[in-house]
Amino acid sequence: MNPVLNPYSPGAGTQPPELAGRDELLNKASIALQRIASGKFGKSLILTGLRGVGKTVLLNRIRLNAEAGKLITVRIEAPEGRSLPALLAPGLNAALTKLSFGKAVTEVVRMSFRALAAFVRVMKFKYNDIEVGFDHETDSDLEEQSMGADLDHELISLFQSVGQAAKENETVIVLFIDELQLLDEKQLASLIMALHVAAQDLLPITLMAAGLPQIAAKMGRAKTYAERLFEFVEIGPLNRDFAEKALVIPAEKLDVSYTKEALEEIVKQTQGYPYFLQEWGKNAWDIADQSCITEDEAKRATVQAIADLDASFFRVRFDQLTPVQKYYLRAMAELGSEPVASGKIAEIMGKKVTDLGPVREQLINKGLLYSPIHGETAFTVPLFDSFMKRIMKISYKQQDH
Ligand SMILES: Nc1ncnc2c1ncn2[C@@H]1O[C@H](COP(=O)(O)OP(=O)(O)OP(=O)(O)O)[C@@H](O)[C@H]1O
Ligand SMILES: [Mg+2]
Repeated sequence: MNPVLNPYSPGAGTQPPELAGRDELLNKASIALQRIASGKFGKSLILTGLRGVGKTVLLNRIRLNAEAGKLITVRIEAPEGRSLPALLAPGLNAALTKLSFGKAVTEVVRMSFRALAAFVRVMKFKYNDIEVGFDHETDSDLEEQSMGADLDHELISLFQSVGQAAKENETVIVLFIDELQLLDEKQLASLIMALHVAAQDLLPITLMAAGLPQIAAKMGRAKTYAERLFEFVEIGPLNRDFAEKALVIPAEKLDVSYTKEALEEIVKQTQGYPYFLQEWGKNAWDIADQSCITEDEAKRATVQAIADLDASFFRVRFDQLTPVQKYYLRAMAELGSEPVASGKIAEIMGKKVTDLGPVREQLINKGLLYSPIHGETAFTVPLFDSFMKRIMKISYKQQDH
């Protein structure tokens, strides 16, 4: 069918034509934000899940809903290699500007601007990557003063001040952070602490974030009370019903349908993973001759979608790996897609678990693996096990590593 009309949108963070199966979560986020807006305690949501499961689009939708509800949102870039102060400062500056938009600047807002400028001033020397142009002197006294400054303390007073300004304006400032697992653990701890103090005072400043599954453990390590402050929501694949909706609804709008068998094939192959559903939907549409997508066309879409994934989605991740990392993942793939004991992987490779510890750690840091429970390892990328088997043809019985 005409590819120009193709409604599916495989990609990273690209809004799907139908955001299937997430209404309950959107509602949960809305309740939390409304509670905070009315001066009550509401837990921040931390969305965790595998690659391509739909965390970014969900976080974006929560943000758009919050904006529609007149809350002030601060979208913070993925924290890759940047310090928390550098990430926060421009967004908070914009948020404070929005608070005072169209009305006389109150003393509380003015104080928040000053608190932000002071925060930037003392953090500038420590982190060196703050780009916003705030007025500040650059004398050596300041440098000395900032060396002694500690992020925990500074962030607590900043959030208190900004929270007061939001409260005075009867709104909520909501920070949105995607790929939260990339934030340095110490800075993450400071962020949690500042949010914790603000929440204790029922100040309307909060966080909505998303990240890979390792984020829950990382936050727990950073601060033991993280679980009481945040609600960790596991974003999983769509069940059969919703997976079908993700395919059928966008097609229906263009008078296109699927046969029952075609849907079965796609749901089976994608296992309900949103990114894969988009990829299969797109291919099935392009392949189909007529306005009803058949089983045969869905099967051809499977061949094409797997080739596409092998050439891009999986391939880019594979290409970042060192040879030993590749062998590690290949050995893991031998054990299937479920979490496996690290000992079993070592056994297949004929090595000691302790020898492989650093490789496993590197793969976790690269975001390819995570540890669902102590001593177990799992892929963060769905269907990566079958890709590894396709790309590295090894017979483990004969091979010696
Ligand atoms: N609920 C949904 N229904 C249908 N399609 C969806 C849904 N959620 C996400 N998608 C589609 O899945 C793809 C991946 O979504 P997204 O980028 O949000 O995933 P992610 O979890 O953030 O992935 P990553 O961990 O790689 O950042 C996009 O093409 C998006 O349109
Ligand atoms: Mg994402």
